Amino acid sequence: MAAYEYETHEYDVIVIGAGGAGLRATLGMAEQGLRTACITKVFPTRSHTVAAQGGIAASLSNMGPDHWQWHMYDTIKGSDWLGDTDAMEYLVREAPKAVYELDHYGVPFSRTEEGNIYQRPFGGHTTEFGEGPPVQRTCAAADRTGHAILHTLYGQSLKHNAEFYIEYFAIDLIMGSDGTCQGVVCWKLDDGTIHVFNAKMTVLATGGYGRVFFSATSAHTCTGDGNGMVSRAGLALQDMEFVQFHPTGIYGAGTLITEGARGEGGYLTNSEGERFMERYAPTYKDLASRDVVSRCMTLEIREGRGVGPNKDHIHLHLNHLPPETLALRLPGISESARIFAGVDLSREPIPVLPTVHYNMGGIPTNYWGEVLKPTAKDHDAISPGLMAVGEAGCASVHGANRLGSNSLIDLVVFGRAAAIRAGEIVDPAQANPKLNEASIDAALDRFDGLRHASGSVPTADLRLEMQKTMQEDAAVFRTDKTLAEGCEKMAVVAAKIDDLSVTDRSLVWNTDLMETLELTNLMPNALATIVGAEARKESRGAHAHEDYPDRDDKNWRKHSLAWVKGNKVKLTYRDVHVKPLTAEKDGGIDLKKIAPKKRVY
Ligand code: FUM
Repeated sequence: MAAYEYETHEYDVIVIGAGGAGLRATLGMAEQGLRTACITKVFPTRSHTVAAQGGIAASLSNMGPDHWQWHMYDTIKGSDWLGDTDAMEYLVREAPKAVYELDHYGVPFSRTEEGNIYQRPFGGHTTEFGEGPPVQRTCAAADRTGHAILHTLYGQSLKHNAEFYIEYFAIDLIMGSDGTCQGVVCWKLDDGTIHVFNAKMTVLATGGYGRVFFSATSAHTCTGDGNGMVSRAGLALQDMEFVQFHPTGIYGAGTLITEGARGEGGYLTNSEGERFMERYAPTYKDLASRDVVSRCMTLEIREGRGVGPNKDHIHLHLNHLPPETLALRLPGISESARIFAGVDLSREPIPVLPTVHYNMGGIPTNYWGEVLKPTAKDHDAISPGLMAVGEAGCASVHGANRLGSNSLIDLVVFGRAAAIRAGEIVDPAQANPKLNEASIDAALDRFDGLRHASGSVPTADLRLEMQKTMQEDAAVFRTDKTLAEGCEKMAVVAAKIDDLSVTDRSLVWNTDLMETLELTNLMPNALATIVGAEARKESRGAHAHEDYPDRDDKNWRKHSLAWVKGNKVKLTYRDVHVKPLTAEKDGGIDLKKIAPKKRVY
């Protein structure tokens, strides 16, 4: 057994991760007087939410008519009927409240002439249940909305005396013998000390796992750490096969160019100068849902109509927009286009390519953020002491495909919901759970094993092998052949974890060890994604299977659950919640409006 001394900290609640969801949960917990700690591997305002550009969806109706029911319809259709209807209703009904709260906390939203929060059009957001024109629903702080939200929430959390443990890396969850989560074991990166956090409630807000792929808009820190810890704790991951490609990553660099660019009037062209989206999505064109736009771009390239010397990308035009619009609404991407593509977007098109952007799947939860441990008898059984919010969680409001700007609203609505629920079930007067020493020892043994790993494969090499495999075999379009090959290759890649070589044995700022721990988190995410994709014999949302081009609701309108152990994945399935929270007779949505149908834009 590895001998490490550690310091123990006691809280009512610990939140792991300080992005939008983590900070909103932290703030909500602290506001209620719960003793709350937020543990984060990066400085809070460097969390990946800082990169969110275009905005946050809520039916405020500031720019024209809108309704929560229209937002709900769009979200259900966007999800390709895989989202949980109760959770989607909760999201869209709470969205306006959550945005006004942000406004009152101090988020510097862009404004209309009248002083209201400015809202822009975004892909897949419509009026009249998909029958009317696009709606302006996405509330924006220029094209730096995530940055604005993150800074405000961090300041507010400090004001309410939340405590922050910054640059602490979470190694593993501490699970009691009865399956209750009791906290987490952490490594403090700057001095090498070990810390045990004991809490009545642990909230995972660790973000997505975009870095499983070679080219992603996600930060290098997006390594699915919470999902990795959950897998090792014997819990499931849900709907991992659904990976979103954002249509407009900068060609080569992968840097995000917000969908807000098309919301403000930008459009895509192929090598013939054709606005090809008019052909594929005659009504909403460049503002169709992003899975649809990404597939159309890929088809144009495949059919030889890509731009550039290798005909391998697409052009995004903004040069026709008034300079005031670019300066006021899109200053951030004007800078990104210059730095990462060498393009002055007021004069030239930006070279773009669909790029991995978001993980619809994650840790299964109900709409209060409580983690589920589904059994054959009870698909909604709760795993006590554990919550998951934000991109790490899967409530599931995005189903098979997320609409742009529904991520920031997911972060704040469900961060807030987790705090409300914790306020109900966490009793500060009660003693914390007695720590399970065996679980702490197991975490430290794993840590020590990796620290002294003396195999033959450097971490960076294995990570690259995984990323290239996933990029090639779990791409925008998938086939039986690519997925079967991908599963085989990934099983071999994942087995090499046992042959890793870590050269730095120190404990202070050991980035080799940190990246190795991250790789052990990325790997179960990659396995769950490709195995789940191979098994799903249909096309739905972001899962475009060329051998099964249609959606198959009879056999596949169900959530997949991946139980990962080592390099093996067992799949089971769980029912989709098809009932809304509010019955139609009580003012709920008309069920006929949300019945499954063909998804066209
Ligand atoms: O395009 C964007 O600004 C990204 C937004 C989102 O993913 O929600």
